[in-house]
Amino acid sequence: MQATNVVILAAGNGSRMKSDLPKVLHQVAGRAMVDWVVAAVAPLKPNKILTVTGVGAKQVQDHLAGKTDFVVQEQQLGTGHAVLQTKQALADNQGATLILSGDTPLFTTETLQALLDEHARTKNAVTVLTAFAENPTGYGRIVRGEDEMVLKIVEEKDASVTERRIQEINTGVYIFDNQLLFQALSQVGNDNVQAEYYLPDTLDILREMGQQIGAYQTMDFSESMGVNDRVALAAANKIMRMRINQGHMQNGVELIDPDNTYIDAGVQIGQDTVIEGNVTLKGKTVIGQENVLTAGTRIEDSTIGDENIITSSQLEEALVGNKTTIGPYAHLRPLADIKDQAHLGNFVEVKKATVGLGAKVGHLSYVGNAQLGADVNVGAGTIFVNYDGVNKFDTIVGDRAFIGSNTKIIAPVTLADESITAAGSTITDDVNFHQMGIARSRQANKDDFWDRMPHKKG
Ligand code: UD1
Ligand code: CA
Repeated sequence: MQATNVVILAAGNGSRMKSDLPKVLHQVAGRAMVDWVVAAVAPLKPNKILTVTGVGAKQVQDHLAGKTDFVVQEQQLGTGHAVLQTKQALADNQGATLILSGDTPLFTTETLQALLDEHARTKNAVTVLTAFAENPTGYGRIVRGEDEMVLKIVEEKDASVTERRIQEINTGVYIFDNQLLFQALSQVGNDNVQAEYYLPDTLDILREMGQQIGAYQTMDFSESMGVNDRVALAAANKIMRMRINQGHMQNGVELIDPDNTYIDAGVQIGQDTVIEGNVTLKGKTVIGQENVLTAGTRIEDSTIGDENIITSSQLEEALVGNKTTIGPYAHLRPLADIKDQAHLGNFVEVKKATVGLGAKVGHLSYVGNAQLGADVNVGAGTIFVNYDGVNKFDTIVGDRAFIGSNTKIIAPVTLADESITAAGSTITDDVNFHQMGIARSRQANKDDFWDRMPHKKG
């Protein structure tokens, strides 16, 4: 069965997060929590998705623009009051309305579909999704009668000691007959500990109205986690990351320590790539096949080809070809473009620069605003001096050029194919084909100097 309408509650102030960011925009595995909710309901092909916004409304609306419609709840008077704000938008609808919270990011489409199917089968006025919790603290409890039929939902703060022992919890997901939903909501009061209009009270009201109400219990409590604070946020991240990691492993990616590997949703990885623990892959990163990423590597918004070995390095918005070796401790910054078989060694930083086919930058160098040709060799400690404090200048280095160690290359400058710079030079002028540029003072040796050293005196 298809949900006709979806309502996502996202107006609350999320005070328990202690954050300036609206709660539903906090990220789980690289996506805002509310994005996960939208992604889970989208395959159900709803007529309409309405997000109720309030605190941080503009931020939430900007974030979700184009994905859902919005209604605003000016004052946060409770979840029932929040749903009431959709009345104008939904009043004429004769179908069903699925309601979820923006702070429950872990539900799968399959679980939601199972709830919808159960609702269609039973023809209930409302079917609430419930779960069995080892520790139900913080959740509303499902109160059932002696015949096991659902009577009502009681919030923890309003629950009696006996009710608090109930381990079946309200996940905050419900599907209602749309017309009956608004009839019930008009009767919800706020006579409770929090003085809020509770959406869960509609169950009791519908039952009193003689309507059939029911619950569908999902087997997997972990999907039901509601994220109200940073502790739950970390727990939700852990669950989501393990799901993502299992997906990659099933696709042939080898994770040495999946509990400690942090891969955002949407990152692509080819098979037979081996990833050690404490690796972070973020954003729009795409990684090919048969790479090795060792511990401590962090890659964001980068595209990596096949058969590279990336050792404990950091990459941002970089492009890497095939069969390169990078690191340990290399730093590739935006617009670094590393061609096939290149080698970047320890403490090498590359920014807005191309490193050509088979080129080597082995040790302790900065390469910025430069284009290095094929098989260039950059000696240890070479600095591309590209910035005068206001403007950046470019350097071109031709194929097979040999840059001596500790060269300073003051851009703009062009070093031709098969040109050489002498070690220790400060290069300010172009060097032509087969020339060597040398720019350093000559050495002088002073005789009999040992006895004049300060440590020999007095
Ligand atoms: C709610 C349920 C609880 C359930 C739990 C599941 C109520 C009263 N309680 O509790 O039974 O076990 O979810 O996670 O519904 N919101 C608004 N406007 C408001 C208040 C809240 O839009 O005026 C939104 C929040 O932004 C949030 C969602 O509704 O996305 C749930 O509110 P929250 O305060 O987190 O409720 P819980 O205490 O978690
Ligand atoms: Ca919540």
